[in-house]
Amino acid sequence: FFSSPAMSHTRLALQVDECTTYQTTTPSFAPNYNSHHAYRTCTSASAFLAVNVVACGFFLVGLVAKTSEHRPGQHLYAPTVVVRGVQSHGPSTIYAKQAAVDKFLKRESLEMPKIPPYGIMSQRKDEVGAAHGALHWRIQTDSIFLGVCSIVGATVSFIWARSQKRTHQHSTAGHVLKPIEPFENIFAPSWNASAQPTLAMAAIAEREEEAFTLPELPWNKGDLVPHMSAETVEYHHGKHHQAYVTKLNELLSRPENAHWKGKSLEQIIQGSTGAVYNQASQVWNHNFYWKCMAPNPSSTPNPPTGKIAELIERDFGSFEEFKAAFTAACLGHFGSGWVWLNYDGHKLQIYEGHDAENPVKDDGITPLLVLDIWEHAYYIDQGNARAAHIDAWWNMVNWDFANANLPAQRRSAQLTAVEDLAVGGVSGSVALVLAMPLLTLKFCVQSGQALPRYPLDWYRGVLVQCASAAPVAAFQMLANGMMMRILSGTSPLSPKLKRQLRNRERILAAASAGVLSGILYTPVDLLTIQQQRLGKDLVGCFHHILQEHGPLGLLHGAIAMSLRESIFVMGMFGLTPMVTERLMKKFKGKQNGEMLSKLIGSAISGVIASVITHPIDTLKTCLQADMYGEVYQNIVQALFKLIREQGFASLFQGILPRTCMCILAFFVTTTLKAKSEQYKFVLQQREQRRKRKQSATLAIQG
Ligand SMILES: [Fe+2]
Repeated sequence: FFSSPAMSHTRLALQVDECTTYQTTTPSFAPNYNSHHAYRTCTSASAFLAVNVVACGFFLVGLVAKTSEHRPGQHLYAPTVVVRGVQSHGPSTIYAKQAAVDKFLKRESLEMPKIPPYGIMSQRKDEVGAAHGALHWRIQTDSIFLGVCSIVGATVSFIWARSQKRTHQHSTAGHVLKPIEPFENIFAPSWNASAQPTLAMAAIAEREEEAFTLPELPWNKGDLVPHMSAETVEYHHGKHHQAYVTKLNELLSRPENAHWKGKSLEQIIQGSTGAVYNQASQVWNHNFYWKCMAPNPSSTPNPPTGKIAELIERDFGSFEEFKAAFTAACLGHFGSGWVWLNYDGHKLQIYEGHDAENPVKDDGITPLLVLDIWEHAYYIDQGNARAAHIDAWWNMVNWDFANANLPAQRRSAQLTAVEDLAVGGVSGSVALVLAMPLLTLKFCVQSGQALPRYPLDWYRGVLVQCASAAPVAAFQMLANGMMMRILSGTSPLSPKLKRQLRNRERILAAASAGVLSGILYTPVDLLTIQQQRLGKDLVGCFHHILQEHGPLGLLHGAIAMSLRESIFVMGMFGLTPMVTERLMKKFKGKQNGEMLSKLIGSAISGVIASVITHPIDTLKTCLQADMYGEVYQNIVQALFKLIREQGFASLFQGILPRTCMCILAFFVTTTLKAKSEQYKFVLQQREQRRKRKQSATLAIQG
């Protein structure tokens, strides 16, 4: 979580470094370059990285220290002294404390207890507890110190990223560092949907030919008359556009640019700065620009049609209002550039790109239309009158091209809260029935029993298991749907989302749903564990906990449980659909591509979720089994204790069957959810068609 900003900023720092190299070695490459700007950014990037490296360093040193120290008869290891030295405690203090503990243990003839993860120390708990108490302060102070280091790093990164957003927004093309939201890239770049290439771009394929060529115009040179003369097109396409292509090829032929060989125009734009970026972008912009105008234009502004017309009305109020805003942006832009109509996945936006600037570098932004407002675009026909150039352009806008650039629409409907509950319950049951042989196998291996002979015996107890799993799965899907509605800006029980959520919002919704289900499920898990431990029935166990620990005792281990559940649900409803969607784009058109994407998506997410949650699950069980806190007081202390006494591997015992069950649960749940949403969409479409037909019949009859 904390390293995510670090990754974003490392990327930025590297980009800055590249700019700086250009500036210092070949200034002629970057005439508009603002060196102060880049050096300042470079300095803050370095400062940020230094803080994070120091924080991570302390964490690693602390981790090593915690796993190696506090053994009976042994003194502190060197790394601990390093950590403590920085904390201004001084080595002498540590030795004094360590000596006191050692003395206590020796006097009481005690050894540091070795406790299995699921066991409880019952003998001489007071004495051992006292010894532990003397040691625990270290773990706590170290944890606080390391936590503060991480928070400082994250805070610096957050403030720094915010300042980047402000300062880089209006910088010149070729030196623009893409503003990155501090936590945007938690799961980037591999499965952040916003990192997907936009549909408007040509396919990003490796370029086979050596040089770029000037593309043919999509119409004849005189087809835009009277709004754009053949002469303007001739000069603009034949001279200016051609010049950018020639200059780009010349730059790419230089030895220092050899690494761009075979790369597509989009790849070059996304990865380059300076002169190469400028020339490549100008080629790309002009390739796009010609398609934005339709031949045989009318004498009046050409109104939008299709989906883009609906979006313009929704986001700008009317075509007239949009036209006024776009025209104002074109007229108000100082100097040369391009004015873009973009789609950010949620709404349309007008964007002014200075010089060669375009949205190719911006993840998740789809360019729909562009108007060239360089003087060379209109000086033959309209002289220096940019307004006349803009007015003429409105008559020949190619709205079909804009519509074709819009990303494909979702073909699924949002489930209601009740439907979420039902689909969740069914998914939980189906996943459990499928996983039952695995559960039986796990039980037999752990208890040393023989494997069942008959197929049906593998399913013994399946109903009881379903009865416990289905309500949890149902609640998780319900809570996830409700959180999604809240984040979209509507009520939790609203029939549909107010807007589509961004990836990070989907992750947040899933995490919150996990926390809620964790809190709800804590007493259930606690009672199960305590029943096994105390040998009492459910009611007896319930009374025992209430008497001994009060009502809040039922929430013992809730933090660990919520953490585990939030990561699990995040994997199921956040990560799995994201990875699957990304894979589906990759496997588009291939046989069984959809099923394969879902399987691989569930497998990747299942493994990640399982590896992260398994140790938390072990810790949670330790905490819930030890309600008096004799051995395990909190999750951090339990973690270090287990690592110290059982080894790191003990945290991952029994992970294999759990991972398989995780993958199965993710696959079944996300598939059933997606299928239900698609089916609901089909039903809605059918109903709409039926209503239209009915009203048409009534109209005829009337
Ligand atoms: Fe141009």
